[in-house]
Amino acid sequence: MSIRLKKANKHYQSGEVTVHALKNADLAIENGEIAVILGPSGSGKSTLMNIIGGIDKADSGQVEVEGNSLHSLQEKKLVEFRRKTTGFIFQSYNLIPVLTVKENVEAGAEISSRPLSVQDILRSVGMEDKADMLPHQLSGGEQQRTAIARAIVKNPQLLLCDEPTGALDEATGKKILALLQEINLTYKTTIIIITHNQGIAEMGHRVIRMKSGEVAEVKVNSSPLQAEQVEWV
Ligand SMILES: Nc1ncnc2c1ncn2[C@@H]1O[C@H](COP(=O)(O)OP(=O)(O)OP(=O)(O)O)[C@@H](O)[C@H]1O
Ligand SMILES: [Mg+2]
Repeated sequence: MSIRLKKANKHYQSGEVTVHALKNADLAIENGEIAVILGPSGSGKSTLMNIIGGIDKADSGQVEVEGNSLHSLQEKKLVEFRRKTTGFIFQSYNLIPVLTVKENVEAGAEISSRPLSVQDILRSVGMEDKADMLPHQLSGGEQQRTAIARAIVKNPQLLLCDEPTGALDEATGKKILALLQEINLTYKTTIIIITHNQGIAEMGHRVIRMKSGEVAEVKVNSSPLQAEQVEWV
């Protein structure tokens, strides 16, 4: 799915304070790319991702996903579009606490018209042995891997990953990144990865740096590294 942002702005109001979280953001991501977003805490990375995914709305400017202007879609159409096309790995996981690992992943598969095998994906993220446990019985990294499985099993055209390896050690993190790369290659999935890990940027076809709400730099990388080769920093 191709993505276009033109002069996109987002303000948040909390009490007396207004935060300009996204400032005149211009950005293009092409279909089938892995785009990596870097930037300090508070620089607008999650805001940008939420706007691309249609769970938040820019208050001015244009946001297009595969030629669809998200602004002009009515709420109901937007929800449907998102459900059909987009998978989210949230920074805070957002697992459903009363469902087991397997049931959480099944929930991802159920809303898709072309899901992958729940069993295969549980195995790929190394969670098959814990399939019947509840989220509160899991370590942070295990919760993160469950959230990743739930997003991947849907086999979305656009996969938005907010710090997908933040809670993982190097070996597990690289396995997950290799899985994302394999999915990108197999299904031509457009994948956006937010990370603080500079090494992971080497995997991206496109590397985007955010600074104080601005898209400060975009670099195209003609020879991305394999996940196994990235330096873990
Ligand atoms: N719902 C909200 N209400 C009020 N302010 C918000 C909201 N969401 C984000 N912000 C503010 O917008 C700015 C950008 O936040 P954002 O979550 O996009 O940063 P980030 O780059 O993802 O940071 P991190 O690396 O810490 O996750 C921050 O100053 C944050 O406080
Ligand atoms: Mg964030």
